[in-house]
Amino acid sequence: MSTAPRGLVIRAARVTDAGSIMRLVNELAMRQVMLPRSPASVIEHIRDFVVAELDGRFVGCGALHVVWSDMAEIRSIAVHPDVQRIGVGRAMADALIDIARELGVPTVYAFTYVQHFFEKLGFRVVEHRELPHKMFNDCKNCPKFTACDEIAMLRQLREPTAEEQQAGSTLPSRPIRIV
Ligand SMILES: CC(C)(COP(=O)(O)OP(=O)(O)OC[C@H]1O[C@@H](n2cnc3c(N)ncnc32)[C@H](O)[C@@H]1OP(=O)(O)O)[C@@H](O)C(=O)NCCC(=O)NCCS
Repeated sequence: MSTAPRGLVIRAARVTDAGSIMRLVNELAMRQVMLPRSPASVIEHIRDFVVAELDGRFVGCGALHVVWSDMAEIRSIAVHPDVQRIGVGRAMADALIDIARELGVPTVYAFTYVQHFFEKLGFRVVEHRELPHKMFNDCKNCPKFTACDEIAMLRQLREPTAEEQQAGSTLPSRPIRIV
């Protein structure tokens, strides 16, 4: 198992990090390995993000977005190509999972092309339809809605309470109407 490299700091993002986040995510998105983010979506969601600095240099970012009382999504996790595979991604994901625990969120999921990375972090592959919140909120606007090639992966941080299960089950399991 990779351990975090010396000199690595994971911290909450600041608005001044938005440019670095956008450049990294959109550079990797051009290589078709992740989805792009608009400037507005990064800035509006800056409090979702952590950034990774190695010896003071920006090398990565990742976000945790709460979608419902029982679920949060890890999004836009990205490591600069010249420092991949040395533990930066795992350190950011662990930090995001710690934030989810502090928030009391029992379940974290991701839509990804890097199944193995998330498996190493304790996620398991699930059917897309097991994530109705995601389908309902984001996927309805995606051109790949009927032909999504991303893998849905989920990690249970703790058993949801009966109340949380009830809250989750009040959501529609599929979109009722897409305008
Ligand atoms: C995927 C990504 C975030 C992983 O970050 P990283 O810093 O390279 O990964 P780490 O070094 O922390 O790896 C953690 C574990 O996952 C494994 N892993 C990482 N990337 C992997 C990959 N692409 N394929 C297979 N295994 C991978 C590592 O081997 C490591 O396993 P180990 O603990 O047994 O040694 C990074 O490679 C990246 O930015 N990729 C491009 C963008 C992307 O695909 N983002 C995901 C969007 S959901």
